[in-house]
Amino acid sequence: MDAPERYRTRMSDLQTRLETIVSTAEQAAADASTLDELKRAEGRYVGRKSVLDEIMRSISTVPPEQRKSVGQETNAAKKRLHKLFAARRDALQSADVAAESARASHYDPTLPGPVRNQGTVHPVTRVQWEIEDLFGRLGFIVASGPELETEYYNFEALNTPADHPARDMQDTFWTTDDRVLRTQTSAVQVRMMEKFGPPLRIIAPGRCFRYETIDASHENTFFQLEGLVIDRNISIANLIATMKLLLREVFRGDPEVRLRPGYFPFVEPGFELDMSCMICGGGGCSTCKKTGWLEILPCGMVHPNVLRAGGIDAHEYVGFAFGLGLTRLAMMKYGIGDIRVLNGGDLRVLVPRERLTGPVIATR
Ligand code: FA5
Repeated sequence: MDAPERYRTRMSDLQTRLETIVSTAEQAAADASTLDELKRAEGRYVGRKSVLDEIMRSISTVPPEQRKSVGQETNAAKKRLHKLFAARRDALQSADVAAESARASHYDPTLPGPVRNQGTVHPVTRVQWEIEDLFGRLGFIVASGPELETEYYNFEALNTPADHPARDMQDTFWTTDDRVLRTQTSAVQVRMMEKFGPPLRIIAPGRCFRYETIDASHENTFFQLEGLVIDRNISIANLIATMKLLLREVFRGDPEVRLRPGYFPFVEPGFELDMSCMICGGGGCSTCKKTGWLEILPCGMVHPNVLRAGGIDAHEYVGFAFGLGLTRLAMMKYGIGDIRVLNGGDLRVLVPRERLTGPVIATR
């Protein structure tokens, strides 16, 4: 066979091959029932690395005088395929729109909407907000301080030097650089005295940490809410009235409490205010360690050494302070008998519940 004859054979082979490609592509386009399927089929036939692409890339192996017609034939096939896929795409898109509007015509605005799971506020946060709201109305600032605190603000400035036996009252987490995870929100007191000076009315809710043995009423991470008032004529009567108001607001009534002397180096005199346990009604349970009472709200008149540490003239100014056990207060308000569930992700504590009708979660 001479050369032109051989090329003719190759040209007719190519034409047959192109026709086969076009007809299988037509079938593939017709079979595609979604736009995604169509896109994949289009890629196989006219995309990069498709069969047509391969033919175009091998054009250099065709004798020069044949290249033009090989190129033209292949391009013509490619054009046909592009048209074919575009037409099928239009058809599928119109079908989609038709289906969507058919669905829309079944839209019934009177049907109830989808039910969403709603988050609720943690009980400790809820009671914290309530107290912030009350004290905001009384002209208090809501202050805060760092959880990772210096030894100075957590102890020394609070009349508790390093050798003071009262340091043992609070088991402390120390860091390697001699800072502490604050054991009490009282650490905010001197910071605020330095920042604002007298007269001063603040509350400072926040997280505290103690290296404690954990039980139904003790956690190693819990919340307190500090209160501090400094002015010229402040008395124990003001302190007691403020605490009564606080409890009345939280419990919408007067809960049963008792006041007894208590020792804290940063107040003089100091008091412990206990609440009758609302989990057992005062009869004794493991929340209150069978005593019927729970320590909730220690307080006292600010010690002159603390005022001095805050740069305040202790002859001119006096003050009172309290350190509410916020987590325990939330337990009493919402009937949660075990403090551990509050940090433990137990979703039952998130059920909104305003009034106590018996313990929600009894002590383990
Ligand atoms: C103090 O922390 C003082 N800073 C309170 C204070 C402030 C006294 C201002 C006077 C003036 P105490 O260690 O008792 O005191 O803690 C205060 C309250 O925090 C306790 O009554 C209790 O309700 C709560 N509390 C203490 N330790 C824990 C704990 N491990 N888990 C849960 N609540 C705790």
